[in-house]
Amino acid sequence: MSSTAVIGGTGLNQLAGLELIRAHSPETPFGEPSAPVQEGRLAGNSVFFLPRHGTRHHLPPHKINYRANLWALRELGVERVVAVNAVGGIHAALGPGALVVPDQIIDYTWGREQSLYDGSGAALDHIDFTRPYTAGLRAKLLQAAASCNIPCADGATYGATQGPRLETAAEVQRLLRDGCDLVGMTGMPEAALAVELGLAYAAICLVVNTAAGLSDEPITQQGMAVILEQKIATIGEILARFLQLPP
Ligand code: HPA
Repeated sequence: MSSTAVIGGTGLNQLAGLELIRAHSPETPFGEPSAPVQEGRLAGNSVFFLPRHGTRHHLPPHKINYRANLWALRELGVERVVAVNAVGGIHAALGPGALVVPDQIIDYTWGREQSLYDGSGAALDHIDFTRPYTAGLRAKLLQAAASCNIPCADGATYGATQGPRLETAAEVQRLLRDGCDLVGMTGMPEAALAVELGLAYAAICLVVNTAAGLSDEPITQQGMAVILEQKIATIGEILARFLQLPP
């Protein structure tokens, strides 16, 4: 059985239904992860859980220690990581409430620790990042959603922005011209670090707002919270089903 971890994003600081067995705080060469890693069982299946923004949701996207998070999971024997991300929708078909398993990334972040290779340790490896998400893991997430009868879009390009502010309308137009379908702040460097560590990695994204300038509605925290509240149980259902599928 390959060990699976869920990295929870905004709105998923806790994994509902997780029966906690123990919490781990493994040491990493990069410092502390966002929170102790919870080991437990979800609907009878083993899983690790790590809230990306910390248990109190106090870590903004550009301050998350992505390297420590991924390293800690691998240290615990995790082989597959499912990331959950709240995002803005750019593609017209991806309005608030839509679920998406992206297949590509464009990275607009800056000033983050992007790599394990910082010149101090292991011999440099230029990872192949042509397909940033693991195909088999993506397929399993989609299979889990389908078997729960939950619509989930297959494939989208995730534009990773720096945050923590949202984008300007002109920035979103640029993302659109570049081919981004979604915009979020935490997709990178998490995906690249997973590949550097040899972990299988895929993401399930929940659209919580229409990206800036694409709708007349103002973007508010409260509006995002409403969608999160409506949909978080649905994501939990997909994750529970995912864990039941053979690896
Ligand atoms: N932009 C960037 N990140 C986000 C958004 C957005 O519109 N919504 C949720 N995370």
